[in-house]
Amino acid sequence: MATDIRQIAEDDRRRYVEICNYAFGGTLEETEWSLSISPLEDSWGLYVDGDLMSCLRIFPFRLRIAGAVLRAGGIANVATAPEGRGHGYAHRLMHQAIRGMRDRREPVSVLYPFSYGYYGRLGWALASERRVYRMPPACLRTAPEARDIIRFGAEDDIAALQSIYEPMGQRYSCMLERDEAHWRKLVLRPKRLAFLERAGASPKAYLVLREVIAPETGERHIWVYEWAALNAPGRRALLEFLGLHYSQVKQVTMAAPADDLLWDYVADRDITAQIEPGFMFRVVDLEQAVRGRAYRADLEATLHLHVVDPMAEWNSATWSIAIRNGSADVEASTGNADLRCDITTFSQIFCGYLLPSVAYFLGRLEAPEPDALEIADEVFRAPRTFMWDIF
Ligand SMILES: CC(C)(COP(=O)(O)OP(=O)(O)OC[C@H]1O[C@@H](n2cnc3c(N)ncnc32)[C@H](O)[C@@H]1OP(=O)(O)O)[C@@H](O)C(=O)NCCC(=O)NCCS
Repeated sequence: MATDIRQIAEDDRRRYVEICNYAFGGTLEETEWSLSISPLEDSWGLYVDGDLMSCLRIFPFRLRIAGAVLRAGGIANVATAPEGRGHGYAHRLMHQAIRGMRDRREPVSVLYPFSYGYYGRLGWALASERRVYRMPPACLRTAPEARDIIRFGAEDDIAALQSIYEPMGQRYSCMLERDEAHWRKLVLRPKRLAFLERAGASPKAYLVLREVIAPETGERHIWVYEWAALNAPGRRALLEFLGLHYSQVKQVTMAAPADDLLWDYVADRDITAQIEPGFMFRVVDLEQAVRGRAYRADLEATLHLHVVDPMAEWNSATWSIAIRNGSADVEASTGNADLRCDITTFSQIFCGYLLPSVAYFLGRLEAPEPDALEIADEVFRAPRTFMWDIF
């Protein structure tokens, strides 16, 4: 059987939709819509004797990490036709995707896995957690005076949403930089509704939600995809707005960063919170990534770090990383390493999910030169990781 990997052609669009629909469920229309919102050139297929058998898609994202914006490949729609599974096709596509991202100068990558183990073997690592609240809406009624909520419509100005989202990108690592098209896909997707708080001259809070029917009980629920507020009154207004659904839905499910403080606003035993693992992150090209990241401007330090990456041999080396004036010089070196780890651990350190000293404590990082741990902590310290987007 002859196999090859190439961009998915227009002629194969139907087969692509069928493979994704079989793999991910939903209605055929939803799958068609989701595949229609970005060009086919982001989609790659493994062909067996000329037939599309396995596919994936790489969104050209831009992530903000520790103050710098890095190009990133967002992997999605990894799927193999049922008759092609277990032959290593998805694995081969993923391996090729790593090379492709490097060639396109996307030094890092993110994805949401079906299995952390499967992508762990390919070099991605768990890099985030999210807190998911579940509650009856009535719990959220805390600000009866806050009734200034308006519906966001197709003609409305995306800048209002962006100005509320933007400060979160400073507070957390890995938030996506969004352009107008990205916003429109997010808020104008079928069945989604977006609302803005409008008490003052400019909006101070927004949320995006969808009503869903719980499969086990048939009850109506609200799923809040994302929400953000610039100030406390804006936040209260959003919660009150959700609370006013008490007569309509049984439960509100709402994700938030792992350090969110909802209970500080509304303490109620009916509000439960669950910490769930989130996206995975991979450094695709260590040299490009380390150069592209930002560092503390007052820090002057040099590290010798040995990294092993069986899937991307260009990353496997001892790297000399010199930090000065907020940026890094990096080159492969023949000297001894102060620290040693594999690419999954390095990826977690790089994006701010793990401090090197914590990775050492967990047995994930060797430190032949223990003093280097303190330096490495300062080099890679970054805000907590989080992103709203699920793709
Ligand atoms: C997940 C999915 C994409 C995997 O596709 P696949 O082409 O079967 O994947 P692979 O063949 O690379 O790997 C599947 C298993 O086969 C094993 N395998 C790989 N090469 C093999 C070979 N030559 N012979 C036998 N088994 C092999 C892999 O080790 C893997 O086993 P594991 O699950 O124990 O790790 C596919 O099952 C699918 O479409 N699932 C539904 C959609 C989904 O969940 N997608 C992922 C979204 S993140």
